[in-house]
Amino acid sequence: MSYTAHFRVWRGDSEKGDLVDYRVEVNEGEVVLDIIHRLQQTQAGDMAVRWNCKAGKCGSCSAEINGRPRLMCMTRMSTFTESDVITVTPLRAFPVVRDLVTDVEFNYQKAREIPAFAPPEGVAPGEYRMQQVDVERSQEFRKCIECYLCQNTCHVVRDHEENKAAFAGPRYLMRIAELDMHPLDAADRQRAAQEEHGLGYCNITKCCTEVCPEHIKITDNALIPLKERVVDRKYDPIVWLGNKLFKRDKTDA
Ligand code: SF4
Ligand code: SF4
Ligand code: FES
Repeated sequence: MSYTAHFRVWRGDSEKGDLVDYRVEVNEGEVVLDIIHRLQQTQAGDMAVRWNCKAGKCGSCSAEINGRPRLMCMTRMSTFTESDVITVTPLRAFPVVRDLVTDVEFNYQKAREIPAFAPPEGVAPGEYRMQQVDVERSQEFRKCIECYLCQNTCHVVRDHEENKAAFAGPRYLMRIAELDMHPLDAADRQRAAQEEHGLGYCNITKCCTEVCPEHIKITDNALIPLKERVVDRKYDPIVWLGNKLFKRDKTDA
């Protein structure tokens, strides 16, 4: 069953742009990315869009559909009525390159600022010992497809360009939490999270969690526990004294 839908797509570049109306064919079983591709084929051959897998796994096709950050390839046309006007705009938190393509360099920069996994000196591969519960905890965070929908949604940077320098965003605070929860990681993640990556900016609104296509509980399982660990370290007098007196030894975790 086919029908003609009313799409309104943002067209332009970093200098200027506007919403452009299209009437376009929709067929049963299609997703928003199919319709964008049909527009490219039939009416707007120069429309820029980023995508790769069309399976919700590469994280490339992020956009805002009727104002909500989503993956275009995972947004079924059946979720709209035939009379709906469907607006597709680029991610708002990042600079537009052209049409639906944004420059996501901010995220690459934040990723580079987080030091890699740092096992203690003298522990060779093969000597690591982890409990299953620690393995499973990080598996959830490893489902991230780097779509940056959470980064785009977080109000700390969405309308506040000035906060970007000091705030890593939910995806990368989650990365710090993952490393901090690793029983063998010896880096001082908690101090860095607070002082270098802006953990204090997060007021646990959970907006990032709501848009994650992998259903990762970013706030509940990464950000809140990380905040708790930072607070424990700072205000628990026994932890404070222990940190002062003894170097943390994670090798027998
Ligand atoms: S929970 Fe924190 S990181 Fe997530 S959207 Fe809210 S303020 Fe941003
Ligand atoms: S945590 Fe979820 S929303 Fe954020 S980049 Fe990863 S997959 Fe996307
Ligand atoms: S095209 Fe890969 S996630 Fe949509």
